[in-house]
Amino acid sequence: MSSGDDSGPTSSEASGETAAGTVEETVFTWGAPPLKFGAGASDEIGFDMSQYGVERVLVLTDPGVAALGIPQRVAENLKRYGIEAAVFDGVHVEPSDASFAAAVDHARESGPWDGFVAVGGGSAIDTAKAVDLLTSCGGELMDYVNKPVGRGVVPPGPLKPLVAVPTTAGTGAESTAMCVLDVLSMKVKTGISHWRLRPALAVVDPLLTMSLPPEVTASAGMDIVCHALESYTAGWYGDSARHRPEERVTYCGSNPVSDLWCEKAMDLIAKSFRRAVHHGAEDVEARTDMLMAATFAGMGFGNSGVHIPHANAYPIAGMVKDYRPAGYPQDEPMVPHGQSVSLTAPEAFRFSFSSAPERHLRAASLLAPDAERLSDPSEQLPRVLVGLMRDIGIPNGIGAVGYGESDVPDLVPGTMKQQRLLTTCPKPVNEEDIERILLNSVQNW
Ligand SMILES: NC(=O)c1ccc[n+]([C@@H]2O[C@H](COP(=O)([O-])OP(=O)(O)OC[C@H]3O[C@@H](n4cnc5c(N)ncnc54)[C@H](O)[C@@H]3O)[C@@H](O)[C@H]2O)c1
Ligand SMILES: [Fe+2]
Repeated sequence: MSSGDDSGPTSSEASGETAAGTVEETVFTWGAPPLKFGAGASDEIGFDMSQYGVERVLVLTDPGVAALGIPQRVAENLKRYGIEAAVFDGVHVEPSDASFAAAVDHARESGPWDGFVAVGGGSAIDTAKAVDLLTSCGGELMDYVNKPVGRGVVPPGPLKPLVAVPTTAGTGAESTAMCVLDVLSMKVKTGISHWRLRPALAVVDPLLTMSLPPEVTASAGMDIVCHALESYTAGWYGDSARHRPEERVTYCGSNPVSDLWCEKAMDLIAKSFRRAVHHGAEDVEARTDMLMAATFAGMGFGNSGVHIPHANAYPIAGMVKDYRPAGYPQDEPMVPHGQSVSLTAPEAFRFSFSSAPERHLRAASLLAPDAERLSDPSEQLPRVLVGLMRDIGIPNGIGAVGYGESDVPDLVPGTMKQQRLLTTCPKPVNEEDIERILLNSVQNW
């Protein structure tokens, strides 16, 4: 793979022509919503929303976050600026087509709304994106869901302003142009992705994350780690074939701007992740670093993309048996997103190492600057990841969330369906590769 670290282009590179005669991509795109970051930022939402000229705003959240009183505080602040506001606290943790539909029905019946505020983790922010899309553009959920599960219709016009207020440090959903859902009837996780889904503004307030339980801090934090690592090791944008402007995809591969954000996210993770898990209730600095890392990684992967660990996470979460993680609602089985992405990460990066050794080694040294240098360089990043996962209490492989070797053949097709993600992988990946990665991830240590 050619990388951004290369010296100047050769004359054939400058013309975009490869030896084989195909025209290489010469353009990358990068986008993110405006950001308001810092302690107390969430107390300014009334002012921020009033700048969009809105009169009626729906605040969306899940019951756990509602119990903390944060969405109600946001609604009060909106009212102080003359904006009528109501709270919908029916967001489902790890949302599904059914829970998206219930939220959309509620918004349609109680609307029309001319703006939305999402208060919560990825579950609340993603639900608000779907509600905004369907109440702004009409149609049914499956019209917009990515093909082949849905019809992949492009949103026909602009959405209403959505302000996203994360209360977990993980998904980066406040800056991405996608939302994820579980399609219950098909036992498959998929998403809707289009640049119009990007929130109008991200309001990121570290004080909202002080109450996160250690298990959610650990799982959501591993989501950040995987976003940064997968984005940093994604295929280089210039190695794909040239796109016409109308075909340009949201995720263009690793590129110089996404790389900067990911490197900084990894720095912050090295400094503060363990502290946030073990002393999160009192360590404001660690919480601030983690939320900044989540935002930065979102600005990276939200443009470059993710690959094998996230592709594997879809069947691992979608086909859950009876695993009920501590720190999360206990009413039904689930594998939280951050756990599901991290369980196969050590083995996935063993697999992808040969495609870009220097990037894997740089990532390992950013995440663990003091780690011992191993004689086998391909082991460096897996070793750093396993050390981190053990320290923060992540389950030991897919075996610890209910899957044995005999389940692997059932999981493989769910990963292979995520071609949009797998094409971001820096080297070709086939069914046998995925099967081996899953088998070697039943136990990680
Ligand atoms: N849109 C994207 O770009 C994107 C990216 C990655 C993941 N996701 C999706 O995001 C979802 C996961 O989101 P998440 O990891 O942020 O968690 P979450 O929103 O599912 O919340 C996890 C739990 O933490 C609780 N919680 C949230 N904030 C809290 C706080 N401040 N104090 C105490 N408890 C709190 C919630 O009530 C819930 O029980 C998944 O559905 C995943 O697929 C979306
Ligand atoms: Fe993720």
